[in-house]
Amino acid sequence: MVVFNEISTVDEWVTNKKKEGRSIGFVPTMGALHKGHIALVEQARRENDLVVCSIFVNPIQFNNKEDLKKYPRTLDSDLEKLDDAGCDAVFSPDAEEMYPAGHPDKIYDFGQLNKVMEGRFRQGHFNGVAIVVKKLFDIVQPHRAYFGEKDFQQLQVVRSLVKQEKSDVQVIGCPTVREADGLAMSSRNTRLTKAQRREAPRIYQALVKAREMYPELPVEQIKDQIRDTINASPELELEYAEIVHPDTLLPVTRSHRNTSAVACVAAYAGKVRLIDNMHLNS
Ligand code: PAJ
Repeated sequence: MVVFNEISTVDEWVTNKKKEGRSIGFVPTMGALHKGHIALVEQARRENDLVVCSIFVNPIQFNNKEDLKKYPRTLDSDLEKLDDAGCDAVFSPDAEEMYPAGHPDKIYDFGQLNKVMEGRFRQGHFNGVAIVVKKLFDIVQPHRAYFGEKDFQQLQVVRSLVKQEKSDVQVIGCPTVREADGLAMSSRNTRLTKAQRREAPRIYQALVKAREMYPELPVEQIKDQIRDTINASPELELEYAEIVHPDTLLPVTRSHRNTSAVACVAAYAGKVRLIDNMHLNS
């Protein structure tokens, strides 16, 4: 596995491999890798000749300075895990390399996709994600790029970005990998106290219950159940629970087993913000 810190060197490597006719699968990450990330690498491994992974804690997508400061950084063990998973190349730049002119001023319009949930509660977040993903796609020039359904709204924003930019990168969504007790794997889980970690699977339990309720019961009642299940723990506080159409992210107002819907949740465990989601009619 080769590791690059500079745009020019990874660009040259990729260009040569593409000239040889090899297909490139790309997994962008912010490091602190866990089995959720590795599952993306493994899928990319199966579907492409070569796998490139990026590790970059992208400052411009953090709307909370404390979150950026506390974001776990574990480069050495990340590289080990990627090597074991059969990754071919890693791109791990610093902020100066990615943004030599400071914070880019590009503003994307994602319409409804950026008006709700993470878009509403984390102003500027998806614009920062879009800027970095576009830049990484330009550098790595992948055939396919792999994103987790764990960040469902991000996946839809990236799909919209690719359409807007008329990019030919194929965006592939991959299922959420969970701990044995249902908690969605996340780099932020390492920041949970013991008590918070014990209570955090309530988020998953609330979503499973929502999926059971969906064919029969009104949306408002399902959202109340999510709120009550999560807030019943003194360790957790719900920020939002929404039930939306998976493509448009418009609110689903009437539950029906034939209406596609995904329930999306954000909750705080102390200062740690956790998100999760579940398709309700699959
Ligand atoms: P990060 O949070 O490191 O996640 C990198 C990728 O791993 C994302 O596509 C995310 O959805 C996926 N992922 C995280 N946890 C997962 C899980 N439990 N199961 C399956 N996939 C999971 O998302 C980002 O980084 C950044 O916003 C990024 C796209 C790299 C842009 O900076």
